[in-house]
Amino acid sequence: MEIVVIGTGYVGLVTGVSLSEIGHQVTCIDTSIEKITKLKKSISPIYEPGIEELIEKNVAANRLFFGTDLQAAMKNKKIVYLTVGTPQNPDGTANLVYLEAAAIDIAKSMVQDTIVVVKSTVPVGTNEKIKKLIEENTQFNVAMVSNPEFLREGSALVDVFEGDRIVLGANDKKALETIAEVNNAFAIPIYKTNLESAEMIKYASNAFLATKISFINEIANICEKTGANIEQVSTGMGLDSRIGSKFLNAGIGYGGSCFPKDTAALSQIAGTVNHDFKLLKAVIEVNEKQKLKLVDVLKTEVSHLQGKKIALLGLAFKPETDDIRESASQVIIENLLVAGANIHVYDPIAQAGIQAVFGDEIVYEKDIESTIIEAEAVLIITEWDEIKAIKPAIFKKLMRQPIVLDGRLIYNKAEMSSLGIKYYSVGDGTNASYKTDY
Ligand code: UGA
Repeated sequence: MEIVVIGTGYVGLVTGVSLSEIGHQVTCIDTSIEKITKLKKSISPIYEPGIEELIEKNVAANRLFFGTDLQAAMKNKKIVYLTVGTPQNPDGTANLVYLEAAAIDIAKSMVQDTIVVVKSTVPVGTNEKIKKLIEENTQFNVAMVSNPEFLREGSALVDVFEGDRIVLGANDKKALETIAEVNNAFAIPIYKTNLESAEMIKYASNAFLATKISFINEIANICEKTGANIEQVSTGMGLDSRIGSKFLNAGIGYGGSCFPKDTAALSQIAGTVNHDFKLLKAVIEVNEKQKLKLVDVLKTEVSHLQGKKIALLGLAFKPETDDIRESASQVIIENLLVAGANIHVYDPIAQAGIQAVFGDEIVYEKDIESTIIEAEAVLIITEWDEIKAIKPAIFKKLMRQPIVLDGRLIYNKAEMSSLGIKYYSVGDGTNASYKTDY
């Protein structure tokens, strides 16, 4: 089938590329000439493993096209995917200006009845509002399908081709069946529901996963004080298939462009229908606190941070992405700057994003060794393979009195302690070699 995808961010690009990979003719539209120029040369504007190879393959097969002209793209296509961003407003609500602007553009470019598939994460009721907005600006009929996206940055292609389910919501049966047909070749179970439920499934799924993370982080905080070990506790919990082992990794909280934004939006949506979503508010609060966990520990270990070299390993909100939005690294750096620390950072991919925020207030290193040499303490923020591969002896060799604060549970406490390294790992209260009091 012939499809137009509006937006070439994470969701849009992965959607366009994957739809072309399963055989559809796809034109991806973006207002950014810079992005489109790059994409035409098969250069991805986002860092996502495997995406450039697939762009190249499908462009060569004449199934994938890029452009800035929506009107031209919609000339003979009656399916349009909307994937533009819905960033967070200061009050937590989802900002729908890009979505509304794109809806008006669609209306003005329509030359026949059209199905609009919304992949952007939007509050319940938005699809109906977008439908009205389009209808006010065109003489043709529009049918809406909500198709929330569940991909994770860094493993987006695996998630798209091997996902657990595809959710399609519509109040128009014919449109629902057409989009189900578009998705058939993914060979993933399709769950069909109404528009509003599909919109809610997306928020509820992200909020539930965020709840799992805040829950396990709270258990980790208690483990530290009771002699238990969080990794063993979460493994033991996860063996119960009703609980499941995924998203039970304790650490320094969740970041990124989705969980923080969507939990805030859902809490706000609940408020608009006079529901005080207490549980979700607690999830958010726990997460904010957890992001500063390593700083709290550091301050008990190094009394005066003024002028002291503190090393941060990893800056991205998780590995395999250059995204630093809502990452723990940002709040940690802000906090350490206030304390006057001399901050040295290293990340294999995400350094540029942090540099755009902090400029010359901190030092950007080119490798792990130069980051940790002579450092007073090392904070492990992101579990990149390169960072997980660091041999503990390196800390001993390069740091004067090694203190390693691990937000991603990489090392074995006994091994670190046998090397004379002061080691703190979130949620590890075992073996008393370095018992903490926080
Ligand atoms: C998340 C969801 O996992 C996707 O299903 C959803 O499509 C996406 O949001 C979205 O709404 O667009 P993403 O933000 O890319 O995906 O990343 P995740 O892999 O879910 O990780 C989010 C954060 O949680 C990261 O900071 C990660 O370090 C943290 N996390 C994750 C933990 O702290 N513990 C865990 O066990 C899992």
